[in-house]
Amino acid sequence: MTGTDFLTATRTFYDAVAEDYAAHFRDPLADRPLERALLAAYAEQVGPGGTVADLGCGPGAVTAHLAGLGLTVHGLDLSASMVAVARRDFPGLRFQQGSMLDLPLADGTLAGAVSWYSSIHTPADELPALFAEFHRVLAPGGLLLLAFQTGEAPLRLDRPWGRPVVLDFHRRHPDRMAELLTDAGFDLRSSTVRQREEALAESAPQAFLLTQKKG
Ligand SMILES: C[S@@+](CC[C@H](N)C(=O)[O-])C[C@H]1O[C@@H](n2cnc3c(N)ncnc32)[C@H](O)[C@@H]1O
Repeated sequence: MTGTDFLTATRTFYDAVAEDYAAHFRDPLADRPLERALLAAYAEQVGPGGTVADLGCGPGAVTAHLAGLGLTVHGLDLSASMVAVARRDFPGLRFQQGSMLDLPLADGTLAGAVSWYSSIHTPADELPALFAEFHRVLAPGGLLLLAFQTGEAPLRLDRPWGRPVVLDFHRRHPDRMAELLTDAGFDLRSSTVRQREEALAESAPQAFLLTQKKG
């Protein structure tokens, strides 16, 4: 896949499954105490009322969770259908359609950014550009939190919920991601890996990186 084809493929995929995805992941943090703890620690470090963008917010449940932790948060997603679902289900929050690789945000304006399983559709050779864009919109000292699946080969989801779409879900090495983030101008604050939970039907260990834009 070359150029911006991956963006078209990602948008097409999530436009097709937005309703199914939202129904399936209605409460995505319910059985995930570690994730809730990491998000709570993140919110505490950003500070009450801090302006945060949930980048690749999907149906908005994590955005709403962050808002519940006292952050001033808005969501952004590539998929117009995901944004429509998020606006419907969380009418009190702000969601906009856009690409994380070209954010409609001024330089240095965010106290925090969250990429919760949203960098997983960006090809490896585009990650430096993605992290440069995250770096651009964060204020010095701003906190970036990423979640992603660890591993080597991508998982290919073909016709999920019977929809006629296919997409690769990239797995990554936390150390390699941390290296790229350091190259982009972030300091690594913490790296957490949780083992795969069979009860959650997970196919890989889950990684969570907290990084800070150099001040
Ligand atoms: C696996 S879903 C995760 C959604 C949400 N963060 C959650 O945890 O429920 C990935 C989301 O990232 C979005 N996404 C992927 N690449 C993106 C990009 N370049 N810009 C904006 N959104 C993107 C997709 O449209 C999709 O909604």
